[in-house]
Amino acid sequence: MESNKKAVDPLSGKKILLGITGGIAAYKTAGICSRLKKKGSDVFCVLTPNAEKFINPVTLSALSGHRTVTDMFDNHEKVYHVSLPQSCDIILIAPATANTISKIANGICDNFLTTSVVSSSCPVLIAPAMNENMWINPIIQNNIKKLEQYGRYFFSGPGKGKLACGTEGTGRMQEEDIIIEDMENLVVLNNDLKGKKVLVTAGGTRENIDSVRYISNYSSGKMGYEISMEAVFRGAEEVILITTARNSGKIFKGKTILVNNTAEMKDMVLKYFNDADIIIMTAAVSDVVPQKKFEYKLKKKDELFENLKFRENDNILEIISEKKKKDQIIVGFAAESSQNIANAIEKINKRNIDFIVLNDISRNDIGFESDYNEITIIDKDGKIRKVPKAKKRLIAREIIDHILK
Ligand SMILES: Cc1cc2nc3c(=O)[nH]c(=O)nc-3n(C[C@H](O)[C@H](O)[C@H](O)COP(=O)(O)O)c2cc1C
Repeated sequence: MESNKKAVDPLSGKKILLGITGGIAAYKTAGICSRLKKKGSDVFCVLTPNAEKFINPVTLSALSGHRTVTDMFDNHEKVYHVSLPQSCDIILIAPATANTISKIANGICDNFLTTSVVSSSCPVLIAPAMNENMWINPIIQNNIKKLEQYGRYFFSGPGKGKLACGTEGTGRMQEEDIIIEDMENLVVLNNDLKGKKVLVTAGGTRENIDSVRYISNYSSGKMGYEISMEAVFRGAEEVILITTARNSGKIFKGKTILVNNTAEMKDMVLKYFNDADIIIMTAAVSDVVPQKKFEYKLKKKDELFENLKFRENDNILEIISEKKKKDQIIVGFAAESSQNIANAIEKINKRNIDFIVLNDISRNDIGFESDYNEITIIDKDGKIRKVPKAKKRLIAREIIDHILK
């Protein structure tokens, strides 16, 4: 995968709120603070009252060059719990205790750190550190899942190994190098889609046969959802997700339009197509559709066999590629049961689209329903780029990077 790192250090000149909570690993954060300073970041350390029992604020003030905040009411003239986080490019919480993670997940603002996180709007990177039993506790895991759904909270670690409590397991604070690399990736997520309107389709269409039956496919809509989240996060002016997937249970700050079948999806795509700058068609649209939809349940024996006749479905990608304006970008998806590059090249040559994302749906570990994907990007000019297996959110990032290139 191409690295997101730029020639200039992405953390140079960035304003960072470094939150530290009450865990043994707090001593390690002095090292992170020092590394960030060397990279040219402006670091503001914030300790929870319990963190003060583990590390002295003086150490962090000396390393960061700014007075460490420990008291919610220290600098009330500046309404500092709002002004500081709102001026930051990123917040890192390392180590993050089970307690603080749970408070943030529930909007609790009972100290300077938790209040700052709630009033911030930048990415928040959380490096949990705790005993394994605490880590695997379903309440803590649910709080983590809850935070991940907002698209602004990211987790680095925890790692596996020897824990401070004397046991072995998962719960060690992530290694410093990886935390810093994750921060570098998050701060490059700037407003590079600012002013752009993005239209995304997702999920498998359901083509009705009769009042109880339909034909569909296993597409979960996760890839389209992650692309939409990424577009929101990168400052797109408007993100419209036209999807058949009803139960992702995730929160999405853009506009979601729920549809059932190809005809409904086509109507909605055409409604918003003209205004869109970028159109990403991840939906798995059925190739065929029943010739007629029966309003009642067909009888199993004769009626089904007699009446089940299909016709070729509308091809939404083909329809919009004919209407494509010069400054619009259209990305098609090809779900193949092998990395069939020849098929994708044929598809791109036939249509007026910018590139095709090919994903292999024959594997169980990626593609339909999985949280992971592995893709091949095929450009109009025949250039081929492989993106190795990664979480769908990271794949989404690669796709948007490719569009912006
Ligand atoms: C010696 C010691 C070590 C601790 N280490 C951790 C830890 O690594 N992770 C954690 O979640 N809690 C740990 N705790 C418990 C927290 O300090 C406690 O939950 C506290 O309320 C956290 O407050 P804070 O999140 O506001 O900093 C530890 C407590 C003690 C006494």
